[in-house]
Amino acid sequence: MKQIGVIGAGQMGSGIAQTAAQQGVTVMLADIELALAEKAKAKIEKTLARLVEREKIAAADAEAALAKITPVADYAPMAEAGLIVEAATEREDIKRKIFENAGKVLGSEAILASNTSSIPITRMATAAPDPARFIGLHFFNPVPVMQLIEVIPGLATSEDTVARTRAFAESLGKEVVMSEDEPGFVVNRILLPMINEAVFVLGQGTANVADIDQGARLGLNHPMGPLQLADFIGLDTCLEIVKVIFAATGDSKYRPAPLLAKYVDAGWLGRKTGRGFYDYSGEEPVPTR
Ligand code: 3HC
Repeated sequence: MKQIGVIGAGQMGSGIAQTAAQQGVTVMLADIELALAEKAKAKIEKTLARLVEREKIAAADAEAALAKITPVADYAPMAEAGLIVEAATEREDIKRKIFENAGKVLGSEAILASNTSSIPITRMATAAPDPARFIGLHFFNPVPVMQLIEVIPGLATSEDTVARTRAFAESLGKEVVMSEDEPGFVVNRILLPMINEAVFVLGQGTANVADIDQGARLGLNHPMGPLQLADFIGLDTCLEIVKVIFAATGDSKYRPAPLLAKYVDAGWLGRKTGRGFYDYSGEEPVPTR
């Protein structure tokens, strides 16, 4: 794949753009307005500069990667792309609108992929111009660092689409896990109930934020505790995923922890808003409970 489009220039979209560009892929990066895509490119430039500073990559490679990313105001320039990846907000109405609009420029052979963390691929495919060329391509945060990509075919996805998507994922230097189109796919089906349970443990007063996270770090060898990871992912995203799994299964074991919903209601969404289970206003994150 020589050229891709990425729609959504947030945490995930930027990571996907950076990773692809570092592998020599040309990336058209779009968001709801050009300024947001430009801001994302500026952030990627800083990330690459830091990697150069730490002697992880050569300055010339950083420059070459950056030159591969073009912020665009609309989807028209994506007509040449072999793949368009949607990495927008985790809301089905927003994503469906994007598929309809991207569908208008999507080439006759091109693949439309969603980085959704939990919304059914089979259902979203009905908003795409050709469900046979629609697929789930689920990256993990931070994309440049995490080794995994989940590939999720919907009911109508063709084998050719699966093969080409898988080849693209592997060309990024990642490992692929295949998942059926079931709620939460593989990884989030395991991860989100754990995070949700950690919030129940917190809400019930079994332990405080620092001890819950320390427990997972030292007792399970997880790089981050579940509450720290929830802040990292975004509490709104976590809540959405838990809700999707709960709604799809109807199983009460997936009911969202009330405290998680309360934090989202308060606008305490984690790192991105400066406060979640930790306060990020100082040098070091400080547990809030
Ligand atoms: N580009 C390239 N490299 C980067 C980078 C970037 N944007 N950001 C960080 N790195 C590299 C650093 O250079 C460093 O490399 P080194 O080990 O060779 O020195 C390495 O990544 C680690 O970075 P740091 O030293 O800054 O930070 P830590 O050692 O504290 O690790 C972490 C940070 C990798 C985020 C680690 O804490 C971790 O693995 N946390 C868990 C992350 C996780 O579980 N993610 C999945 C979330 S679930 C998800 O995304 C699915 C969604 O649907 C919800």
